[in-house]
Amino acid sequence: MQSVVRTKLLEAFSKAEGEFLSGQELADIIGCSRTAVWKHMEELRKEGFELEAVRKKGYRIISMPDKVTANEILLGLKTRFMGRKIVHKETVDSTQIEAHRLSQEGCPEGTVVIAEEQTAGRGRMTREWYSPESSGIWMSIILKPTLPPQQAPQFTLLTAVAIVEAIEEITGLQPKIKWPNDILINGKKMTGILTELQANADQIYAIIIGIGMNVNQLQFPDELKNIATSLAIEKGEKVFRPKLIQRILEKLEQYYDLYLNEGFAPIKALWEQYAISIGKHIKARTITGVITGKALGITDEGVLQLQDANGTIHNIYSADIEI
Ligand code: BTN
Repeated sequence: MQSVVRTKLLEAFSKAEGEFLSGQELADIIGCSRTAVWKHMEELRKEGFELEAVRKKGYRIISMPDKVTANEILLGLKTRFMGRKIVHKETVDSTQIEAHRLSQEGCPEGTVVIAEEQTAGRGRMTREWYSPESSGIWMSIILKPTLPPQQAPQFTLLTAVAIVEAIEEITGLQPKIKWPNDILINGKKMTGILTELQANADQIYAIIIGIGMNVNQLQFPDELKNIATSLAIEKGEKVFRPKLIQRILEKLEQYYDLYLNEGFAPIKALWEQYAISIGKHIKARTITGVITGKALGITDEGVLQLQDANGTIHNIYSADIEI
């Protein structure tokens, strides 16, 4: 099915909110015959959509497949631009690499690259990111704000707030943020954020925000099992990924708009509500060494301030934190 036809159909079903749409209504929406509508419905069925067809009433969607495809994300997505263009891959080396390439080719702001599996998922500080098939959310989002590159770290914090709130709304779980980019539940890491830049010294051309979220894994490799968790483990049931992705994209758009209109202050206030490291005695491993002390808070730029035993305040731009 042409993607434009599919998008129109799914948007119509989304607006209908579970009510029937007649064959004629659908034919008018996509500009084709009722026979062609029937064929499109059969294609959706083959993709895993559960449809009900009733004579004289038409069609309605009962359930969507538990697969992350562009269609599932678009169906019911309430955003202006975030996720309006979705590039979906079954397998990819890294969605970050693909997103960098698309950005250089001039893709629109809000473009999302998402994969069922990554073979070379990357984490912060050149680490690998474990990204097994069909169980997590492995996605990269391209933003193009007109800002100096120094402001880019704020986007990690903005994204963390959007993710925490989306998880709370969809699952009822209450994740916490460990500066700068880890989202934890019960002390174990469930999501990591990787913010990468295309920029010159004065201006950002694109920010590529990579989100790696453990959603439905029930097991982890030995080296991760004591430090990683998933939403399914914490909640005790599987989580429907497309809904969660939609909520993340909606929250991201909301907070990105807020940031562009009012600056970082309102985002910082939200971030502080969810942060676990502030006020605690922590150890920060930076590329130049280890600093221990009390985490005082974050600056208006999103930089962590740490006070050591001598009272000296250190600005930490990037580090791994132990609490
Ligand atoms: C971290 O180290 O905590 C950040 C992990 C970020 C992983 C995500 S998965 C989607 C995107 N593609 C990648 O290769 N990495 C990010």
